[in-house]
Amino acid sequence: MCGITGYIGNEEAAPILLRSLKKLEYRGYDSAGIAVMADNSKINLQKSKGQIKALEDLLAGAAIDGRTGIGHTRWATHGEPSDTNSHPHTNESLSIAIVHNGIIENYLKLKQWLQTKNVVFKSDTDTEVAVHLLNYFYKTESDLPAANDSSEKRFFNAVVQTLHKIEGSYALGIICSDFTDRIYAVRKDNPLIIGLGKNENLISSDVPALLEHTRQVYFLDDNEIAVLYRNHVDLFQDSGEKKSIHSTTINWNIDAAEKNGYAHFMLKEIHEQAKALGDTLHPRIKIENGCSEILFDEIQFDSSWVNAPRIVITACGTAYHAAVIGKYAFEYFTRTPVEADIASEYRYRNPVFNKDDIFIVISQSGETADTLAAMRLAKSKGAHVLAITNTVGSTLAREADLVVYTWAGPEIAVASTKAFTTQLMCIYLLAIKLGRLKGQITDCAYQTYIKELLQIPESVKEILNHTEHADCSINEDVVKRFASLQFSKTKMFFIGRQFDYAVSMEAALKLKEISYTHSESFAAGELKHGPIALVDSNTLLITTATQPALFEKIASNIREVSSRGAYSLVITNEKDSAFKEIANEVWIIPKSPEYFSPLISIIPLQLFAYYCAVLRGNDPDKPRNLAKSVTVE
Ligand code: M6R
Repeated sequence: MCGITGYIGNEEAAPILLRSLKKLEYRGYDSAGIAVMADNSKINLQKSKGQIKALEDLLAGAAIDGRTGIGHTRWATHGEPSDTNSHPHTNESLSIAIVHNGIIENYLKLKQWLQTKNVVFKSDTDTEVAVHLLNYFYKTESDLPAANDSSEKRFFNAVVQTLHKIEGSYALGIICSDFTDRIYAVRKDNPLIIGLGKNENLISSDVPALLEHTRQVYFLDDNEIAVLYRNHVDLFQDSGEKKSIHSTTINWNIDAAEKNGYAHFMLKEIHEQAKALGDTLHPRIKIENGCSEILFDEIQFDSSWVNAPRIVITACGTAYHAAVIGKYAFEYFTRTPVEADIASEYRYRNPVFNKDDIFIVISQSGETADTLAAMRLAKSKGAHVLAITNTVGSTLAREADLVVYTWAGPEIAVASTKAFTTQLMCIYLLAIKLGRLKGQITDCAYQTYIKELLQIPESVKEILNHTEHADCSINEDVVKRFASLQFSKTKMFFIGRQFDYAVSMEAALKLKEISYTHSESFAAGELKHGPIALVDSNTLLITTATQPALFEKIASNIREVSSRGAYSLVITNEKDSAFKEIANEVWIIPKSPEYFSPLISIIPLQLFAYYCAVLRGNDPDKPRNLAKSVTVE
């Protein structure tokens, strides 16, 4: 949830830390701070409540010398956003500073124990426990057999002792004024990446903050301790055993993590979807002699796939909505029973396991705590797990048995857009491939489905690029105008059936998380069972209707809501739609078969959420109370 950075090299650390924090701000933005260590061993601590801008203003008036430092942007869990609760946290003498991402679950017990040792706490955070604990072990040597060890060894041992005492999840960056030439970095269940530069090394919670310096990275593993010097990095297991570092090269263009002229990352990422969908799709389609084949180099589709009695898909938030569409798609194409479940629910109920099930987890970041826990639970019961993720080197990617990457490129905006549609693309490819292998799809249908999928990026482009097209009445300007007329409605309801219902769920989430409008999604058939009582003249009803067999039914639902005063919009792929007679407004999206329509119908709804947020004066990239990756439970 928070963002961690650290720099050691030949440049002044403060401006580098500040730039990195700006790139990590999407991970949390209620307070920020840095601690920079000068060559004279003095640690200079600067921190402030508010977004990075507040820290930037604070630093503008301060002289902060030093070429080693750590920084943090916070999403509060323990203790309100305040200057005092901001990271870095230090011991009393300001000789050790720590930045932390995660939650120390046993912090209260440790705090009480430290208080019996006369440690005085300044903040309400769980993190402060870590710094006092480390200081205690370093200074007292109480548990250490060799009191005459070098201070270097004692500090390393104190780090290890601290890690063994704290429970929960953490990524920590640590500096100590006794060792001005190094930064310590550790993690457990939270991401931390080492950037391996030339005469400089860095730590970061995410790759974009490193790209200005290096493309060579090492994804730190749980219970490893990295010690970063200017010219090299040492890696240890928490047993003390030294390990070698195997770096990974990041292929992203640095522009991928910049706004490139767009007002917000979210708008840029919405616009990147045609390309992202193509990048996810094309490498997996081989066309030879006019025949197409879906290929997943990552997967051996052996008999265990074909004979699997059930498919279980689990995820959180937007990724869960992709899972729901996955349920419909796998059932449609493979005729296999599918269960789609919210990861935080799945892990805490007592799910029935069958080791022959196909178990799929979906996560953009690959770091969502509940999704990781669901995967680990399934693995502990013997399941083979396939992960669909956007993040190379993420915990999910490393722990799953198989990984299918969504090649969406970095998604910075908190509201997920291109990650969602590329997740859908992976799901469709897997479902069609499996359906064919199971004999549920004829060769002719298989060829048709692939052809239809190949058309999707073009259809998305038609909406986003304002391309004139006879079958598409919708473009960004139309959405913007509609948003300008409707954004102040106090209730916005989204309805649909089956595939369209899943799209409604995603549309409602998108709208509520960035515009703070009370928006809900309902399975259209459920309206009469309760929700219709909420409808009045301040209600906007948005219906997604792309499945012809259900048009009649959904038309009745629209009539029922409209007659109670709601203003209604229908998004459909039917050119001469009868909806024009009953709805206040109808948007015609490019035609696609109903099973693939979520890939297209969600685009104008993402734009609608974006423009409502902007019109309401919100920053869509940094919605209140939210952070990009939810690494706490
Ligand atoms: O990184 P993940 O895909 O695991 O994240 C899951 C959700 O936290 C995420 O999709 C969230 O719902 C988005 N902010 C929605 O836009």
